[in-house]
Amino acid sequence: MSNSPERYTITAALPYTNGPIHIGHLAGVYVPADIYARYLRMQGNDVAFVCGSDEHGVPITIKAKKEGVTPQDIVDKYDGIIRESFKEFGISFNNYSRTSAKVHHDTASEFFKTMYENGKFIEETTKQLYDDKAGQFLADRFVTGTCPKCGNEEAYGDQCESCGTSLNATDLINPKSAITGEVPSLKETRHWFLPLDQYQEWLDEWIVKGHAHDWKSNVHGQVKSWLNDGLRARAVTRDLDWGIPVPVEGGDGKVLYVWFDAPIGYISSTKEWAEREGKDWKPYWKDENTRLIHFIGKDNIVFHCIIFPVMLKAHGEFILPENVPANEFLNLEGKKLSTSKNWAVWLHEYLEDFPHKQDVLRYALTANAPETKDNDFTWKDFQARNNNELVAIFGNFINRVVVLTNKYYSGIVPKPNEYSEVDEQTIAELKAYPAVIASSIEKYRFREAQAELMNLARLGNKYLADEEPWKLIKTDEERVKTVMYVALQIASALATLSEPFLPFSSAKLQKMLNFTDAESKLSGEEYSQWDKIATRDSLLPGGHQIGKAELLFSKIEDKEIEKQLDKLEATKTANAAADKEVEPQKETASFEDFTKMDLRVGTIIEAHKMPKTKKLMVIKVDTGLDKRTVVSGIAEHYKAENILGKKVTVLANLAPRKLRGVASEGMILMTENAQGKLVFVNPDEDGVEPGATIN
Ligand code: 2FM
Ligand code: ZN
Repeated sequence: MSNSPERYTITAALPYTNGPIHIGHLAGVYVPADIYARYLRMQGNDVAFVCGSDEHGVPITIKAKKEGVTPQDIVDKYDGIIRESFKEFGISFNNYSRTSAKVHHDTASEFFKTMYENGKFIEETTKQLYDDKAGQFLADRFVTGTCPKCGNEEAYGDQCESCGTSLNATDLINPKSAITGEVPSLKETRHWFLPLDQYQEWLDEWIVKGHAHDWKSNVHGQVKSWLNDGLRARAVTRDLDWGIPVPVEGGDGKVLYVWFDAPIGYISSTKEWAEREGKDWKPYWKDENTRLIHFIGKDNIVFHCIIFPVMLKAHGEFILPENVPANEFLNLEGKKLSTSKNWAVWLHEYLEDFPHKQDVLRYALTANAPETKDNDFTWKDFQARNNNELVAIFGNFINRVVVLTNKYYSGIVPKPNEYSEVDEQTIAELKAYPAVIASSIEKYRFREAQAELMNLARLGNKYLADEEPWKLIKTDEERVKTVMYVALQIASALATLSEPFLPFSSAKLQKMLNFTDAESKLSGEEYSQWDKIATRDSLLPGGHQIGKAELLFSKIEDKEIEKQLDKLEATKTANAAADKEVEPQKETASFEDFTKMDLRVGTIIEAHKMPKTKKLMVIKVDTGLDKRTVVSGIAEHYKAENILGKKVTVLANLAPRKLRGVASEGMILMTENAQGKLVFVNPDEDGVEPGATIN
């Protein structure tokens, strides 16, 4: 890496503790950040990888109100669940803190006070939205309305999630209180504002001009567009009771805006870590020789590229981010992930259904990472990535190498004979991989990096398939020694290079290859393990004893995938039912009105789609009275051959009418299911025969 820094501070967005985390969080932020941090550590860098729970903010108070518990109850519950998920998925934070921790309250208060004392805020009394019924001011997610920039009707009081613009609540068109649904009034209140407009020029120099080439184009483009629109002062305090109290005169009853305190959480998390490790936290945030990198999702760009940098700059003692590699969004089976609609794969639930398969999810999410555009997670793709790549290529290669080494040499790495041209070529290709993968990781192109890792496994697989040591063993034992030696070097490189991506499988493989005893680990050379692949002749030297074969990956069966798809189908049904408005009851019908209707059980005996129509089906029904024709609008929902023999409910005495020239003598009663499919009102009990009346 050019101009090697002395250390890295890597942050991953602090998740809100108003729900568990799902695959979108993992794919967008935590897996890429973890790959990066693990890689840097393997290169021998000094890394502080920090995160923590974001426990303030309106969504948490809204959830608490809804559930009739305190905000503290909510954050305690989800902080626990989220922590556990991160641990289970091998996200290798050096520290995971929480913004309710004392160290954070102190750090954020101090930060605010310093800015206040240095005159960095504007203090102003302005009119803010107020809910008279609830008796409180409406900020952030307590108010929704139409975004003045893109027209999204569900924009929040601080941000429109559709176009990413950061808003003041009073910018919203047709604002509505999220607490009572009332139209808010305006009421005066005093707040502290961060004058972003004063930093416009500086931001233009630093990001638009200064980072035009090294920042991702989605990030750079968004910043440029906001600067083009012109920045305005933003309030950094709120009239709320959940949060960090405003620590200056006049701050009673007010708290810091959650987006003011949350990013300071990165600093407090670093402090907490340093304290525990007996280190000094300051160089990680104040030394120009530190690289600060923020991993976030695209909805957080404005906060990490504009607001937090302005805070750091205004405060004056801190370094600025070197890069903010924000990802786009991940969808699930073609639809936006949603916590409130339960349209998600929750990490804690995934682990119940796929125990010990953390790496498979990490792998599938990285293979489909939304790095340059929104992307889709599908269960079929997940299965294919596992079965066709991890099992069939990576796992298959490793299994062959370890099994054959044990079979032919009792697990002792053979000493090679002279290399053939293919061997030379294979070893040369192998040695190129560390630099290729490193270069992609350093450019934050994790999909590309992981694809190269799989290409290395492909190289190994092809080498064995071409050389066929299992056949050669009968004719040329000396040649087999060389082949197995080369294959073992590839296996060993895979064990190292897979560590950032597949940490659990890498550890298992390292154990299988008995890495701890391997010369490469013991030598204590100045090169990192990663670089040794290219620089050393041998990674697993002849004579080294490896362990027994264990399965690295196992096949995922169709039925396991169907179970997941059924789960999502059930969510769809539940959502549709919840969304569906029940039709109001019709006018009262007298008993006479009802008895006028002749409802009968009938059996469908013939059916065909009416030509040149989309919806109509011509059906012959045995009504017990006669066999008659009924035209029904069900052709989009049923195939003719599938309804033959079905018992149905028929309104027999409906006045006949012609539909497209065909006389319809009655009506088959239908209803709509949760997915909008027409289904029969079905008298399908044993012994119910055509002609039976319904009353
Ligand atoms: O979008 C979110 O989930 C926020 N809780 C992220 C905060 S990142 C940081 F600044 F703390
Ligand atoms: Zn918008």
